[in-house]
Amino acid sequence: MYTTPQKRSDDKPVTLATLAKMKAAGEKIASVTAYDATFGALADNAGMDFVLVGDSLGNVVQGRSSTVPVTMDDMVYHAQATARGIRRALFMVDMPFATYATPEMALANAARLMQEGGAQVVKLEGNLNQRAVVEYLAGNGVPVCAHLGLRPQSVNKLGGYRVQGRDEAAARQMLEDAVALTEAGADIILLELVPSALAEEITRAVPVPVIGIGAGPATDGQILVCYDMLDLTPGRKPKFVKNYMQGAASPLEAMKNYVAEVRDGRYPAPEHCFD
Ligand code: KIV
Repeated sequence: MYTTPQKRSDDKPVTLATLAKMKAAGEKIASVTAYDATFGALADNAGMDFVLVGDSLGNVVQGRSSTVPVTMDDMVYHAQATARGIRRALFMVDMPFATYATPEMALANAARLMQEGGAQVVKLEGNLNQRAVVEYLAGNGVPVCAHLGLRPQSVNKLGGYRVQGRDEAAARQMLEDAVALTEAGADIILLELVPSALAEEITRAVPVPVIGIGAGPATDGQILVCYDMLDLTPGRKPKFVKNYMQGAASPLEAMKNYVAEVRDGRYPAPEHCFD
């Protein structure tokens, strides 16, 4: 039976300032997704710096083929459940598809995620079009993570889940978008499915922490979908996923091994990266 984890005496909550200091010190940031209290507690106890309630819950929890159908009510429900498991890690929640089309709409929905769901940071999938939204959220005290590269909410426009920024023009655009969104007030940049060299360039160009998923070893930190790294996801896994259950006696040990490998640079290895 699930019981609420006890607060450890050495718990020092992770904040945006902690992540900024880690970037400055060259200390790698480790994170995973979670969608309920059990996985939230597992991630927290394993030493993750932040935990994301991703709208990937549409795929891995709801069994859908994309994140597009995920609603605000879904996100609030899973955020509330996950928050109950977290004691120390910074807590980030995704804004679902089409819930940040205007600055006012974005603020109302971000406020729900923070006030009802307990989010400390909201994540949105952005390019230059989201500049005004990010500026408005930041100006109203909402910490924002801007997700660039492969943006799964735009899969119907992108035509599939493919590495982004491979040609020169797209790479320049992504770099410019990252800089512009940071200038607009984004506190974290997340890069998904991006060539390692471009991710490195973006990581150097922006002053805020850059977190990668399939974006190579040079980003300030890594994130993985918890079901993927614990080998719970059926079927073929993306190239960047490593099965941490291999050689681990428990999911907690698997997550601790992931944190250790992110910290010392063993993950991601060349076989998890894209040119
Ligand atoms: O929703 C999600 O799980 C994400 C990850 C790809 C980081 O955004």
